Amino acid sequence: MTAQLLALDKVSVRYASRRSPAVGDVTLSIEPGRTLGIVGESGCGKSTLAKAVMGLVPVSMGSLHFLGRDITRMTPRQRLQAQIGMQIVFQDPQSSLDPRMRTRDLITEPLVIAGRPSAGVAESMADQVGLPRDALGSLPHELSGGQRQRIAIARALAASPQLLVLDEPTSALDLSVQAQILNLLMDLQREHRLGYLFISHDMAVIRHVADDVAVMFRGQIVEQGAAAEVLEAPRHIYSQELMRSALSGQATPAVESLT
Ligand SMILES: Nc1ncnc2c1ncn2[C@@H]1O[C@H](COP(=O)(O)OP(=O)(O)OP(=O)(O)O)[C@@H](O)[C@H]1O
Ligand SMILES: [Mg+2]
Repeated sequence: MTAQLLALDKVSVRYASRRSPAVGDVTLSIEPGRTLGIVGESGCGKSTLAKAVMGLVPVSMGSLHFLGRDITRMTPRQRLQAQIGMQIVFQDPQSSLDPRMRTRDLITEPLVIAGRPSAGVAESMADQVGLPRDALGSLPHELSGGQRQRIAIARALAASPQLLVLDEPTSALDLSVQAQILNLLMDLQREHRLGYLFISHDMAVIRHVADDVAVMFRGQIVEQGAAAEVLEAPRHIYSQELMRSALSGQATPAVESLT
């Protein structure tokens, strides 16, 4: 078939406590070496979509294919093996990294869980992401926010993935560190032909990284296409509002103003 890394077909996610689905009917795909940016206001379902891709929340309808295989309804053990090539980086490394684990073990843990050899991996990953080797013996709280996010990226890369899900990977960082991490991600993408599902509420970040952009509104994708088109000439009224408020430096538009 195609060279797609990841393909979602009409994926919905429903939380038991909510009446409407948090993610509804999402269809998208990502190819090697390309970045799909997901934008949309707080609460529109971006993180839920990321979790559904990773199998961290169950999909209620639709299907996910990774490297051509249907991973939607595998057992946890099958899925762990099938999606070792897909890893996630969360927004806040402070809460996503186990505070009791040292850097070296945080980086190699995904390999250890998957029963793969991990000798020397921590050192080579530290070099790749620009972490000093003496940080390998440190606990997360002994390092800076930027260094912690480098650990999260090193951990995600340890298993030589083809796809990274990046859920606001730079939002918790100050601006100069944000630029360093974005540049690192872009270098790694070029070097390894990684596919990125890149979630951000920051339009400037999306403009910088994305080849394609999907706009989410109330759990659904209302518009998707080439980044230049969606960002410069959005067709859907919600996307237009989103771009306008980003340009004027305001917060994302109030939902009420669009309905
Ligand atoms: N575990 C959960 N149980 C029930 N509802 C949830 C759960 N997690 C998220 N939600 C709800 O699902 C909707 C989507 O949340 P989600 O975290 O995916 O949004 P988001 O787009 O990532 O927002 P943000 O930009 O603030 O991170 C929200 O209404 C949220 O309250
Ligand atoms: Mg989120």
